[in-house]
Amino acid sequence: MTPPRPIRLTVNGVSYEAAVEPRTTLVDFLRQELGLTGTHVGCEQGACGACTILLNGQAVRSCLMLAVQADGAEVMTVEGLSRDGQLHPLQQAFMEEHGLQCGFCTPGFLMSAYELLRQHPQPTDDEIKEALGGNLCRCTGYQAIIKSVRLAATKLSAALPAAAGTVGK
Ligand code: FES
Ligand code: FES
Repeated sequence: MTPPRPIRLTVNGVSYEAAVEPRTTLVDFLRQELGLTGTHVGCEQGACGACTILLNGQAVRSCLMLAVQADGAEVMTVEGLSRDGQLHPLQQAFMEEHGLQCGFCTPGFLMSAYELLRQHPQPTDDEIKEALGGNLCRCTGYQAIIKSVRLAATKLSAALPAAAGTVGK
């Protein structure tokens, strides 16, 4: 067996040091070692998007990465969206527009949408569809999800009129 390798990374603003087996995927590390089970595992093949997280600000599939590849990186998971017990406006919008049904896919959608809104604070429906195209919902809730992202864009632009271009906290 290949011996564990030391890694350091920041997850949701908290620094971690750990020794991981080189074969450990990032999603398994987040869930099993750090207890951050909000990131879900669906296909484990990069097809469903349930495991989407932000790595250095970019949405990536954490089932396709090894934990050792995240050495030195800044990671954000769905747990990093809320602050002080308050839901992020994006999460609030998913609640209000029924963008979650069974909720299994929701963390992945939230992280993909978060990245989208940071880059395009007022996305068109086509831009929303394209950004979320790699995330699968088995409850066929896509219309509600698109409406949720639209509402989140409105909430965020109202909350941060001077900070267009950021998703903000
Ligand atoms: S679990 Fe990673 S894309 Fe499906
Ligand atoms: S809400 Fe059920 S899989 Fe998406």
